[in-house]
Amino acid sequence: MAEIDQIREKWGSKIGFVLAAAGSAIGLGNIWKFPYITGENGGASFVIVYLICIAVIGLPVLIAEILIGRTTQRNPVGAFYKLSQSKFWASLGGLGVIAGFLILSYYAIIAGWALGYIIESINGNFYLWPDPTSAAGHFNDLVSNNYWNIGYFAFFMLLTIAIVFGGVQRGIERASKIMMPVLFILLIILMIRGLTLPGAEKGINFLWNPDWSKIDAKTVLLALGHAFFTLSLGMGAMLTYGSYMSEDDNIPTAAFQIVFLDTLVALIAGMAIFTSVFSVGLDPAAGPGLIFHTLPGVFVKMPGGYFFSILFFISLAIAALTSSISLLEVVVSYYVDELKWKRHKAAIILGFIIFLIGLPSALSFNLFSDIKIFGLSFFEVVDFLASNILLPFGGLLISVFVAWIWGLDKVIPNLKKGAEKLFENYPITLVFWKIFIKYLSPVLIFLVFLNSIGILDKIIELFE
Ligand code: TRP
Repeated sequence: MAEIDQIREKWGSKIGFVLAAAGSAIGLGNIWKFPYITGENGGASFVIVYLICIAVIGLPVLIAEILIGRTTQRNPVGAFYKLSQSKFWASLGGLGVIAGFLILSYYAIIAGWALGYIIESINGNFYLWPDPTSAAGHFNDLVSNNYWNIGYFAFFMLLTIAIVFGGVQRGIERASKIMMPVLFILLIILMIRGLTLPGAEKGINFLWNPDWSKIDAKTVLLALGHAFFTLSLGMGAMLTYGSYMSEDDNIPTAAFQIVFLDTLVALIAGMAIFTSVFSVGLDPAAGPGLIFHTLPGVFVKMPGGYFFSILFFISLAIAALTSSISLLEVVVSYYVDELKWKRHKAAIILGFIIFLIGLPSALSFNLFSDIKIFGLSFFEVVDFLASNILLPFGGLLISVFVAWIWGLDKVIPNLKKGAEKLFENYPITLVFWKIFIKYLSPVLIFLVFLNSIGILDKIIELFE
């Protein structure tokens, strides 16, 4: 692996890193996916299981990922190579880079819908299709229109490229410092709107009163998988962001702040959405269409809905953008570190390649809608491969690597750098982290992985 000759970029400030990493974590996962899977899985009980997964697996693995990055100051491939001197582990880091290509290629399509829906809401189009069925029809018309679908996808990729093009401090950090506070403010406004609607208490009950009959092994694994996705774990995004940190930065505290902000935003989004959905008597278990089919109909019925619908889709687009830049950055950092590309060239060329990779997924809503692989469209295959296979596999490798290959005796002194006071005052935190990362995380993540494969088996069975 090539050594670095150009000076590697760094974050300008601690808060800059935390906001950028929280920006990566907070995304479609929080505002689109978390509410709909909570809605489908019984509300509060799912939320509680999810919170446990975040604390027990999410936080320890997040600390491990950031630590690999900060210690090596490299992209995922270079980082694993540097610590293990093994081509095998380096190639596993390469899976992270591949996951970056794949996830962004479909993530940016959904993000493009969010951009398109900003314009829909400004044009007042929701008032033309006010009930969920006709709103769904309108949504299907839009996404099966190639100009609309691919146009917004391309536009969103351009925004992502422009920020990564600007570099770590002047692109990613600056964009996060502006966009994250705006996102928080918009979501809080939306939550207050939701809470002040008549009938809001039904939504609050749904989110906070557990119904344990809805929880089984499958829901636990679903929550665990989502904990991974929402914290951007398992493919080296947090590793890459960690690689721009300095040794005097406190990793456990930063990781805790990232997890806290990510969870807070999921809950705020959940409150905003469920209070609104219940107040107009719609179905919280509408699935992936909850945001694009159900919410437009909610907005048209609420006072000030025109205004709040615009704010909502702006929030969604901002959240997606601060996540997509972290996905592109993983790929770019690999080409910059290892292949000595210039950042500007890497951002443009790789961004364009990701756009091309995404085209079959985008077209799967129209031209390719008849092409099914194991019964799934292109879009669904890429999503499944990336979120259900590559991420848990990557997370498993990261915890195994840190605890068993790199070795805790070498890991701990690195982790302590910048966090001396924390571990002096609360030595128990270190004990917990060691147990979690060495035993609990690998076992639990392995179960998630097996579950994903099990789903795959069933799909194959169905089509044999
Ligand atoms: N965490 C983001 C979300 O919740 C998605 C995301 C960004 C991601 N980067 C990632 C997921 C890296 C996994 C890995 O929407």
